[in-house]
Amino acid sequence: MSQQQQPGQVDPVLAAGDEPNSNTSGNAYFGDILEARLSRRTLLRSSLAVAIAGAMATSLPFGRALAAGGNAPTPTLGFKAIPVGTGDNVVVPEGYRVQVFIPTGTPISGSMPAFSLDAGGEDQAHQIGAHHDGMHFFPIDGSSRDGLLVLNHEYIEPRFLHAAAAGLSLESEGFPQNADGSRDADQVLKELNAHGVSVVRTRQADDGQWQVVEDVHNRRITGLTPMQLAGPVAGTEHVVTKYSPDGRMTRGTLNNCAHGVTPWNTYLAAEENWAGYFANEDTEIDRRQTRYGIETRGEGRYQWHKAAGGADEYVRFDATPRGASARDDYRNEPHTFGYMVEFDPFDPESTPVKRTHLGRFAHEGVIFAPAVEGQPVVAYSGDDARFEYIYKFVSARPYQASSADGSLLDEGTLYVARFNDDGSGEWLALAPGENGLTPENGFADLADILVNTRSAADFAGATKMDRPEWGAVDPATGQVYFTLTNNTRRSEEQVDAANPRAENHFGHIIRWQEDGTHAAERFEWDIFVMAGDGESGRDLAGEPLGQEAIFSSPDGLWIDPDRRLWIQTDISESVMNSGIHEVFGNNQMLVANPETGEIRRFLTGPVGQEITGVITTPDQRTMFVNVQHPGATTSAEAFAAGELASHWPDGGNSIPRSATLVITREDGGIIGA
Ligand code: FEO
Ligand code: CA
Ligand code: CA
Ligand code: CA
Repeated sequence: MSQQQQPGQVDPVLAAGDEPNSNTSGNAYFGDILEARLSRRTLLRSSLAVAIAGAMATSLPFGRALAAGGNAPTPTLGFKAIPVGTGDNVVVPEGYRVQVFIPTGTPISGSMPAFSLDAGGEDQAHQIGAHHDGMHFFPIDGSSRDGLLVLNHEYIEPRFLHAAAAGLSLESEGFPQNADGSRDADQVLKELNAHGVSVVRTRQADDGQWQVVEDVHNRRITGLTPMQLAGPVAGTEHVVTKYSPDGRMTRGTLNNCAHGVTPWNTYLAAEENWAGYFANEDTEIDRRQTRYGIETRGEGRYQWHKAAGGADEYVRFDATPRGASARDDYRNEPHTFGYMVEFDPFDPESTPVKRTHLGRFAHEGVIFAPAVEGQPVVAYSGDDARFEYIYKFVSARPYQASSADGSLLDEGTLYVARFNDDGSGEWLALAPGENGLTPENGFADLADILVNTRSAADFAGATKMDRPEWGAVDPATGQVYFTLTNNTRRSEEQVDAANPRAENHFGHIIRWQEDGTHAAERFEWDIFVMAGDGESGRDLAGEPLGQEAIFSSPDGLWIDPDRRLWIQTDISESVMNSGIHEVFGNNQMLVANPETGEIRRFLTGPVGQEITGVITTPDQRTMFVNVQHPGATTSAEAFAAGELASHWPDGGNSIPRSATLVITREDGGIIGA
């Protein structure tokens, strides 16, 4: 058994808002399985070592490496790798240019209110939100110079949002409070409106610069936007609230980390670390909340329920049962979060829809397998918390391009992954009567299974993973890649000679091949890369990572149409640039060749941030990348003294802001080629 974090135990490697481990089931821990494979491999290697003096002392579990792509085109990496970076700037390879675009507070709609720390809560509803994350470019009429850029805003740093925060001793998660413990209602409004998603029409001018276009499509979806619930949980007693007595509506989406794009060209925003936003003073909380990390003593991440004036849209963040029934309070409000939220960016009046059949957990994002006419729609999603799982949804109805829409996501089967130690794997159905999910075992029906997805996956016997983040599907081979960002809970006792790592501080990338179509119930897996420094990192061939390829904590992942695998890092601000993480410098983006395993560093970002979100225009000649939370490493004391760790992107004495990078080549060529 791996070491488990105790409730309330502070983990220095969790980033702001990350959920603490709440999985206390006895399921196998992925590290255990990896270790078992490493042990076997080391036995093989020890005899090899006799013959090959000086060969690697340790090796990686590539004994059953997945087959290469056959006749698939091998992507080129045509740029010179850059070194790690520590400056408060963005660095890209020679021959590339960077434009900083749409920093937090950029006006996009309404009266186009200008960015200012004095801007109010209503202004923020017409401005780009905070903490840019997952992103997609929806071309207009196929254009590579004109489209809708859609991006998530994962969370906020109140100290960088409010003029009233100046001079206060606030750390990254801190917020201004009134003397009586209440919160200023307009600050709360601004914070909710800085969450969610932005849709912004984006066009390249003749001088090559990209510009915001005032347009009817420009839209902010926020923590307050009315949303529909769809799928098996909709309309059940689990989601009955004072706001929606029939359990079919809720308000807002929060902590939108990564995203997904459906085969029918809509956008899905993931609700990741939503649980922390809720308070609950009740002494008895059931698994619908405890299994997601909501605790009795929790006051809520930003204490929005304490907004002065007691407006209903803020009070709902208190999940304590206070009324006579669920229709009279917000005890069920947290059950309306933890989903993938779909909307059509080309329909600005549409109501976003929470698709409950994709499961309820800390969704990092969702990645769709290429849709095939007449076959089910398949989508993969990771649950990013320590010891959580990787899921797959397979639609009941077949995909038909002429009629496909979001209702395909409302009927089907949700599966969870089990990674066997022999390199095989299986998908375990989370459905009534399957894998012991019966009323006798505490799972009343499909809605009960879905609202308790984590508990159902525990019961089915899924494999506990090292924080699943983004996924990508290779368009040529169908292989599915997933980043596993890190998990420092792997104890010293679990390390042996077969495992060169003391703990999984650095993360790795796993990949698998389904047995036939993406809807298959079995697969084979291997490890694509073990992240780490020059000593602990290993590439696809089992060789140490060179200086051009070292990285830690893979998070964002995207494979471009030419099969370049883009890897983005999120070393937590609590450990970046210090100790064993010092060698990696600031968070970065690299690109890998999935055939050869070669990795080259492409971009390094400013101080205190993570690089997340990546997409190109259809011609691959413009790339959009997000820089999230620059300056998050600023301590409370330094903030009070006005000494910020970063002033990116505006420089001078400015407060740091998240922003999008627009990357092009001086010769107009394909990015990365
Ligand atoms: Fe929001 Fe798991 O990164
Ligand atoms: Ca992420
Ligand atoms: Ca993060
Ligand atoms: Ca992360």
